[in-house]
Amino acid sequence: MTLTQAEQSPFRIPADSPDWWRQAVVYQIYPRSFADANGDGIGDLAGIISRIDYLKELGVDAVWLSPFYPSELADGGYDVADYRNVDPRIGTLDEFDEMSTKLHEAGIRLIVDIVPNHSSDQHPWFKEALASEKGSPARDRYIFRDGLGEHGEIPPADWKGSFGGAAWTRVPDGQWYLHSFAIEQPDWNWSNPEIHADFLKTLRFWADRGVDGFRIDVANSLAKDLPEVLPSAAELAAMPIDGTHPTIDRDEVQDIYAEWREVFNEYDPPRTAVAEAWLDDPARRARYARPESLGQAFNFDLLTADFDAAQFRRVVSTNLEQQELSGSSSTWVLSNHDVTRHATRYGLAPLNGRKVKQGAEWMLAGAPADQLDRDLGVRRARAATLFVLALPGSAYLYQGEELGLHEVTEIGDDQRQDPAFFHGGRQDYDGLGRDGCRVPIPWTSEGPSFGFGAAGAHLPQPAWFAADSVAAEEADPDSTLSMYRKALAVRADLVTGDGQAAESLEWDDALSQGDVLAFRRPGGWLCLTNFGAEAVALPTGELLVASGHLAADEDGQQLLPGATTAWLRQD
Ligand code: NOJ
Ligand code: CA
Repeated sequence: MTLTQAEQSPFRIPADSPDWWRQAVVYQIYPRSFADANGDGIGDLAGIISRIDYLKELGVDAVWLSPFYPSELADGGYDVADYRNVDPRIGTLDEFDEMSTKLHEAGIRLIVDIVPNHSSDQHPWFKEALASEKGSPARDRYIFRDGLGEHGEIPPADWKGSFGGAAWTRVPDGQWYLHSFAIEQPDWNWSNPEIHADFLKTLRFWADRGVDGFRIDVANSLAKDLPEVLPSAAELAAMPIDGTHPTIDRDEVQDIYAEWREVFNEYDPPRTAVAEAWLDDPARRARYARPESLGQAFNFDLLTADFDAAQFRRVVSTNLEQQELSGSSSTWVLSNHDVTRHATRYGLAPLNGRKVKQGAEWMLAGAPADQLDRDLGVRRARAATLFVLALPGSAYLYQGEELGLHEVTEIGDDQRQDPAFFHGGRQDYDGLGRDGCRVPIPWTSEGPSFGFGAAGAHLPQPAWFAADSVAAEEADPDSTLSMYRKALAVRADLVTGDGQAAESLEWDDALSQGDVLAFRRPGGWLCLTNFGAEAVALPTGELLVASGHLAADEDGQQLLPGATTAWLRQD
């Protein structure tokens, strides 16, 4: 028998499909915390290579690597000192190529993170800017201003950085530079054509090496229009985000992405991109997802939703409408490296519309750690994941969620790394920071760092990791890992393989009553989630996968317990 090209390809969706991303399951790797091959306590590319079989068995379509570039790690690598290289602590460009080749051989595509809003203060161009005069071309690559007051000793504005602390910092000759995040992350000046040219070079550099797509950090803030007299922080915060705000989501940011799109389309298949744009207005976010822009945008709406049927339905409906606006497919995110893991969120008091906290402070403030219901959190997390994996669009998973990991809170102040903790501190920033979801993941139940590497881990791992390790969960058919593997295999079968799958769902209003949400996908696929506490009757059908054990009443009627999702096939 001769195999067709599609059958020979290791990719579930053919290698030359320009639409592979539309229904993809993308697994986020935080490289320093995934696997440490050389035993120095820091995860590395060789570690990722050694775990490709694991990723293949999990059944993901792509991996997204958080930054692995040379960095002083002032912000976990989101302070990039060289955009076209690999941090020597993580590996080499040769290892990058090996990783890319081996991922592709395993049928897994590769997405890398691009950080265009700011560089590291160790970037040669920032060093050059500091060594150059006021008003020089080198300074013009960043955003420098004179200060106010008789001697320029007052910052040009009282703005705060995202991690707390001032957003303007003074340099030795008296000028001030803007950093929207940490002091070590000076913002690029996107009014300068040199910055445009340099990022096009970076995109081509990685695309030429076979990278399939890009995740764009802080995609909404590159374009800035700063008047001579800057508004105060309060005035800035009161300005509408409608395309005219001085720093957020300006209309002309789209011109940058139109340039990038031309580069993406130089490749066959075109390279893809996904915007990180925390914007409240779904219609504004949709602009980034248009085919002439980045093509896709993260939907973070589930990060602020409680485990609640009405909230989940609202989020899904809004995002499916938004999909119509952009022409892109929806994206779904329950966890990433910036937010409290969803197992922990769902085991605490409801958010009730509050913004999700990027850390675990709400355990200390609103809901103390002893109020965390660990089991309920995991049951709900599994149910939510199974719900999301049944939705049309692409799902972004964060390393360790497939083990049902909770946020780690057992990290001493002196062991923390996140600038959100250090620069802002508890009084300025609303959390302990994000280290609790960045602890190296447990591969085995024993060993110096639970199989992460031969030595310790760069953030402390708690004793309870032993029960949640890959080895422990692989041996247990009821584990969270086993559920993810099964769900991804079923999903792969049910979503048609050309990347052009039906991008709609049909709510089943008869079944969607009270705490229950039910929707149908093509092929007789029914997803039913019980967000409440009381069991409900399960309709008949072939059970494809469930997030927990089902029950039965005295008459033998199958029941779907609370905090559980089931996928059925009905003809
Ligand atoms: C968003 C990234 O996800 C986060 O980790 C980082 O701190 C900020 N952007 C700044 O780059
Ligand atoms: Ca290492």
